[in-house]
Amino acid sequence: MTITIDGPAGSGKSTAARKVAARLGIPYLDTGAMYRVVTLAALERGVDLGDEAALTELARTADFALDPGPTHIRVTLDGRDVTEEIRSMRVNDHTRFIAASPGVRKLLIEKQREIGARLGSMVTEGRDQGTAAFPDAELKFFLDAAIEKRAERRLHELRADGEEVTAQQVLENLAERDRTDAGRAVAPLRRPPDAIEIDTTHLSIGEVVDTIIGHIERAGLLERRADARSAGASSAQAAAGGAGHRDSKS
Ligand code: C5P
Repeated sequence: MTITIDGPAGSGKSTAARKVAARLGIPYLDTGAMYRVVTLAALERGVDLGDEAALTELARTADFALDPGPTHIRVTLDGRDVTEEIRSMRVNDHTRFIAASPGVRKLLIEKQREIGARLGSMVTEGRDQGTAAFPDAELKFFLDAAIEKRAERRLHELRADGEEVTAQQVLENLAERDRTDAGRAVAPLRRPPDAIEIDTTHLSIGEVVDTIIGHIERAGLLERRADARSAGASSAQAAAGGAGHRDSKS
């Protein structure tokens, strides 16, 4: 069972995906972390962000891994923990070059499908999960919120991580990312036509999670998940543990 949650930055999709997955007892995949870690690798190695062949080669060879942690996915690059670093404004300001690369997107989508196949069930979130990566997902959501609200949430997160950043910088970065995410030629941010849209502007995270779980329940997916778990509890557990959810490239 694959449940996709797409939407712009600050729409609440990452937290919602994590909490919905925890309620369902299945893993979640933060695909933004993949674009972020490739961005960090490109910045560190001085790769020309306009060089499509070099970016694709970097995405193919970069040694990064994603491991589920208690609060969010822990990410390593060349064995080094970069979980915090990939959330920095420096990375925020450059992800759009990586996200616009057709070669990188193709590789990361292949990786996401491999992970999905291995896990069997997951909640996956990003910009293109219900459109390009998993068009046949059982249930798709699209979260959105007013840009001022999204900027407020991101500012809060960045300051909590110790970043010295102004509200204006965050708003401008979000507006720029919205524009490039929606305007790029490959896999632009679009609401999948068959997605359930949730405006989170005036909702708490708990309300967003309850709304999503309500839809999952009404779609009959809770029973399916329970059946799948009792039929293959041990194999699902093996897949969700260490190597199953580890996205390692070498
Ligand atoms: O979701 P998050 O803000 O962490 O994503 C970082 C960036 O990665 C986004 O601004 C977007 O450009 C890109 N992205 C993408 N496709 C995804 C997930 C993220 O293009 N599925």
